[in-house]
Amino acid sequence: MVSLSFVSLLSVLLVSPLAVAQAPPTFLWDQLTPSQNLSWVECYSTFQCTRLEVPLDYSDPSVGTAALAIIRLQANVSNAEYRGPLLFNPGGPGGSGVDTLVMLGQSLQVIFGSQYDIVSFDPRGVSYSTPVAAFFETDAERALWNAGTLPTSLNASADAIPHDWARANVLGQLAAQRDASGILTYMTTDNVARDMLRITESFGFEKLQYYGISYGSVLGATFAALFPDKVERILIDGVLDADAWFSANLTIEATDTDKVLQTFFDSCAAAGPSLCAFYAPTPAAIAARLAALTAAVRAHPVPVVTPTAYGVVDYSLLRSALFTSFYVPYTLWAPLAQGLAALEAGDGAPLFSLLQTAPPFACDCSADPVPFHLNNGEAITAIQCGDAVEVPDSIEELRAYVDNAAKTSEFVEFLVGGGRVSCSGWKVYRKDRFKGPVCAANTSFPLLLLTTSADPVAPTAAALKTLAGFPGSALFTQDSPGHASITAPSLCTAGYFRAYFQNGTLPPPGTVCPVDVALFGAPPGASAKRAEGEDAMIAALKTIADAVRPVITRKFGAVL
Ligand SMILES: *[C@@H]1O[C@H](CO)[C@@H](O)[C@H](O)[C@H]1NC(C)=O
Ligand SMILES: *[C@@H]1O[C@H](CO)[C@@H](O)[C@H](O)[C@H]1NC(C)=O
Ligand SMILES: *[C@@H]1O[C@H](CO)[C@@H](O)[C@H](O)[C@H]1NC(C)=O
Ligand SMILES: *[C@@H]1O[C@H](CO)[C@@H](O)[C@H](O)[C@H]1NC(C)=O
Ligand SMILES: *[C@@H]1O[C@H](CO)[C@@H](O)[C@H](O)[C@H]1NC(C)=O
Ligand SMILES: *[C@@H]1O[C@H](CO)[C@@H](O)[C@H](O)[C@H]1NC(C)=O
Repeated sequence: MVSLSFVSLLSVLLVSPLAVAQAPPTFLWDQLTPSQNLSWVECYSTFQCTRLEVPLDYSDPSVGTAALAIIRLQANVSNAEYRGPLLFNPGGPGGSGVDTLVMLGQSLQVIFGSQYDIVSFDPRGVSYSTPVAAFFETDAERALWNAGTLPTSLNASADAIPHDWARANVLGQLAAQRDASGILTYMTTDNVARDMLRITESFGFEKLQYYGISYGSVLGATFAALFPDKVERILIDGVLDADAWFSANLTIEATDTDKVLQTFFDSCAAAGPSLCAFYAPTPAAIAARLAALTAAVRAHPVPVVTPTAYGVVDYSLLRSALFTSFYVPYTLWAPLAQGLAALEAGDGAPLFSLLQTAPPFACDCSADPVPFHLNNGEAITAIQCGDAVEVPDSIEELRAYVDNAAKTSEFVEFLVGGGRVSCSGWKVYRKDRFKGPVCAANTSFPLLLLTTSADPVAPTAAALKTLAGFPGSALFTQDSPGHASITAPSLCTAGYFRAYFQNGTLPPPGTVCPVDVALFGAPPGASAKRAEGEDAMIAALKTIADAVRPVITRKFGAVL
């Protein structure tokens, strides 16, 4: 994550728990010739890869083509049992589906079933798909622009908003000026939805089977709105309000953020001092302790120098650490509490290192140009800003916007920049792009939606709004704080996911799934003896949940 609008403010909402950015460079995508069919070759030891040519502009083939990097983990059943491709989008937007599937494909297949090809792709403009969106000419240029490495809270100082506005305007001009391939115009979500239909058809299927997380929910809902009769299964998890997305107003997405903070206080008090290092006897006492620490750090930032890293724990870093932890409470709250307690005692290193999991930028000085694919930051900006209505807000308008948003959550300091401040200088818009409304009177199969009981960026209110737009669809809840279901293993949730895909079964209205893990590392409640197959399922869910934390905490350059 970066200090400024370009990444921090966007990324904060948009970074998906699963949008992995770095895979072992074991496959040379540029040596595959793109074609209009799926010509698979072996890749990443157990996977198959292909590059599919799609029109940049579906209404004007003369504009040219993009080549999508597509990866699959093949189904492992007889032809009679084969159920076709299940497309997966990890969110971001701008996360590499390819890299994510390399890491999690096996686990996803355990959850959904070996009847499916588990398929993902880098959306047009992203990562291994070409042409690639890039605003910077070198990695060094990118790193210098992004220097600072952690998000600045819009509350950090009076000039945070003006400063981010100005940077957004530099970036908007730079992007427009350097878009030699013209890709920026065509990266919008509607086109990615069209690409998903094209991929599905290339497999010889007519209707989409899809699992999308976070921004992947916007993509899934957009597909359902554009192609209501092409829905075989659409499962969306960590559901955003897609209409808010297209109107560049993400305020509603912060509806449950403060509820997550309250859950931190409540569960720390319940866990006790041995499990929660920032313990106090009541939730209110923990809140007071945190407020005092925040004020102290604001007045007195703490310098940190360790053998491997150095920097400053200031107001922005503290706030950012809290907000980051809200995505993944099950893995981050115990170390967060330790970091807060150490900071109180004058040692900033534990909290600092919580957010520093990637090595610092180092120039690659080899003579050969390294194929560029870590463009998550650029891709987020291009997709989010290019999707939305134009928001050429003035600094005064942005201040008024943020003040209003602050009524929804005390953490909009990180949330509302995305799509508002960060897009205030964007220039590249395609006139005929889809901007909603994201709804359909009748889809060929009901959608399935999942919300957690306290999601920092995808509140239940957004899921309910989405549900209302797709009559006949179903929503169920996983009883856990955190972003999307994947941050806490739940056999119950996975069972409904699997039944939806395999049998078309929807959970009964009002279904709430417990999770098989407890906050602050407490042992989960006594669980019944597991049925056959459940151990493998739990292991798969745990693999996914464990994969999320480093992705969320890694600083910019890796994810976002
Ligand atoms: C796929 O396309 C390539 C090149 O366009 C062609 O050589 C190949 O025969 C095609 N394969 C199939 C199965 O159509
Ligand atoms: C299916 O899985 C079995 C057991 O893991 C393996 O031996 C076999 O090669 C797989 N078949 C295919 C088509 O992947
Ligand atoms: C953004 O959405 C919030 C509610 O979610 C609303 O209060 C506010 O007026 C909207 N702002 C703009 C500029 O549309
Ligand atoms: C951040 O700024 C907003 C708007 O100026 C204000 O309402 C809010 O209380 C501030 N939040 C914190 C945590 O200081
Ligand atoms: C909805 O679509 C399905 C399948 O496309 C169709 O069978 C059904 O009659 C439609 N229902 C309504 C109310 O239009
Ligand atoms: C699907 O339905 C069949 C028959 O009712 C049942 O045996 C099977 O367990 C169901 N599969 C899932 C994943 O729920």
